[in-house]
Amino acid sequence: MKYRIVAYKTLPADVMAMLRERADVVEVDASEPLALAAALRDADGAIGAGVKITPAMLDGSRVKALSTISVGFDAFDVADLTARRIVLAHTPDVLTESTADTVFSLILASARRVVELAEWVKAGHWTTGVGPAEYGVDVQGKTLGIVGLGRIGGAVARRAALGFNMRVLYTNRSPNPAAEAQYGARRVALDELLASADFVCLQVPLTDATRHLIGAAELRKMKSSAILINASRGATVDEAALIDALRDGTIHGAGLDVFETEPLPADSPLLALPNVVALPHIGSATHETRHAMALDAAENLLAALDGTLTRNLVNPEALAR
Ligand code: 8YV
Repeated sequence: MKYRIVAYKTLPADVMAMLRERADVVEVDASEPLALAAALRDADGAIGAGVKITPAMLDGSRVKALSTISVGFDAFDVADLTARRIVLAHTPDVLTESTADTVFSLILASARRVVELAEWVKAGHWTTGVGPAEYGVDVQGKTLGIVGLGRIGGAVARRAALGFNMRVLYTNRSPNPAAEAQYGARRVALDELLASADFVCLQVPLTDATRHLIGAAELRKMKSSAILINASRGATVDEAALIDALRDGTIHGAGLDVFETEPLPADSPLLALPNVVALPHIGSATHETRHAMALDAAENLLAALDGTLTRNLVNPEALAR
């Protein structure tokens, strides 16, 4: 018998064809939570990204597995899923390198003022040479502080240490011996990282423990020359405090791929600040990586429904009970 699957994000044609061999696939517009909840009621599983799946949306459904096309799973109430014995799968490994590239783009763009000066050229301001008013700051040889040294943090550390001769400091729940051996990364307390780093880079998942991890007090501990980089989740930073810190010179600048509200509202004060590089949450958004993520998630979902999934499980305990 074929499975019944809800797809709440557009999938590449070949991935959709693969799913349709094993399942009837119902495509739902994720911006319609009621339609999504109604479709879930009559489904064995779902695949998608970009919207919150609340416990209420699963009431009365027979869903056995959910597969998110993302590494982050803050859009789900995992404890509730486990209690319902719904397996949640994610796509951690396939996006590591392209997301680390985005992080490094933000580091370079913020330090060297790439976006601001490219706009300056297009606006016709390049009439003589550049001078101190257009200078940026060095990246190579500086100190990078990585808050959360997991897979993506490790790939950022590699770029920093081996490519840019940077000193790497990090915080993490547990030590990362591989990063220490290969990139000379040094595990320190958050306060020391904030006080020493020229670039503070957030690579933590969003949880109750990391919500507003960086607020006014933490920003004050950073060097006034430091740049904050966030391509994790917007809510790891108190955005109002960040805006104040960027306005009053508490820190030098910020490179941001994520925001407390996405899409970033057009009237956000962040957009008016010259020392901010803002990207539209493109961490993993390359053709190759988004395809790999969709394929990974589709394979995860079918294997979860078959009862054979052993990797990419967010809540293996849902199976164990
Ligand atoms: C996507 C992400 O933007 O993997 C994540 O956690 O944030 C990104 O890859 C996300 O899947 C929303 O589409």
